[in-house]
Amino acid sequence: MKKNILITGTSTGVGYESAILLARNGYKVYATMRNLGKANNLKQAIEQENLDIEILQLDVTQNDSIQQAVQTVIDKDGKIDILLNNAGAGFAKTIEQASQEEIDWVTDVNYTGVIRTTKAVLPYMRKERAGHIINVTSVGGLVGQPFNELYCGAKFAVEGFTEALATYVSEPFNIQLTLVEPGGIATEFLNNAVAKTVSKEGEFASGEYAPIFQKYMEGIQNRSGSEEVSPYQTGKEVAEVILQVAQSENPPLRIRTSAWAENFTKLKTQADPDGSGIVDQVKRDYL
Ligand SMILES: NC(=O)c1ccc[n+]([C@@H]2O[C@H](COP(=O)([O-])OP(=O)(O)OC[C@H]3O[C@@H](n4cnc5c(N)ncnc54)[C@H](OP(=O)(O)O)[C@@H]3O)[C@@H](O)[C@H]2O)c1
Repeated sequence: MKKNILITGTSTGVGYESAILLARNGYKVYATMRNLGKANNLKQAIEQENLDIEILQLDVTQNDSIQQAVQTVIDKDGKIDILLNNAGAGFAKTIEQASQEEIDWVTDVNYTGVIRTTKAVLPYMRKERAGHIINVTSVGGLVGQPFNELYCGAKFAVEGFTEALATYVSEPFNIQLTLVEPGGIATEFLNNAVAKTVSKEGEFASGEYAPIFQKYMEGIQNRSGSEEVSPYQTGKEVAEVILQVAQSENPPLRIRTSAWAENFTKLKTQADPDGSGIVDQVKRDYL
């Protein structure tokens, strides 16, 4: 039987590219998205290449939709081999300027959603004594960046959640965990984040924060042209790393997806680049 994979957030970007690449490489893909009205591009790709991809509705903020999608996969295949938690959304606003509704939303999409899907698939993986949960975080899950405290906080949380889980589910239950940590990716992500950031008056930030925010935005815009190694990569390139991790017999806990991401996080990661050292230490100390 083919290995299957359930992917969240496949309407665009990394999720879309991963669905196609993994199907091309022999996986049965359950490509989920919150809004099935955005499935046209994926449907076309499936038809053109006759790909083994089934599209399901799944909103990571809605427990019912997660349960329903997971149950569909279990009814069909009786197992879930790989869960790719890819859905996420950028957000850049000062904590003072973000509304409580926005704060809850950033946390829900980027962090609590990962917990919900993981909680839903874990019993099936444990029963099979096999499984791999791949969580797409970011260099922002390792390094805090200006005006990204809410997004970075959520991604740091996914890093901690994943690292902790990895300490006690790998050995007895053969469930692997991996954190995929990209730098910038040329997807809809930045446009969506900017759309949420701009105020009704067309400003990014007001008051005393405005000049600092302006400098930050200019820095981001000038970055790709001025650095030797580009901070940006394509969704396809990130999908290649995800494929490599999915196919690995012994997947890393952590992996950066580009030279830029590796360099940007070096101070945090050089002592234990793939995260295996710290997990082994914790296992020795506690288990
Ligand atoms: N792009 C970057 O610069 C960058 C850098 C580092 C890490 N990342 C991470 O990479 C992952 C993929 O992002 P991307 O660059 O491919 O961005 P993207 O093109 O904007 O894709 C994000 C996906 O998440 C989906 N999504 C948003 N809210 C959701 C919800 N409540 N339930 C289910 N799906 C939801 C989006 O669906 P809709 O189309 O319906 O909104 C879309 O399919 C994210 O976890 C992101 O944080 C991105």
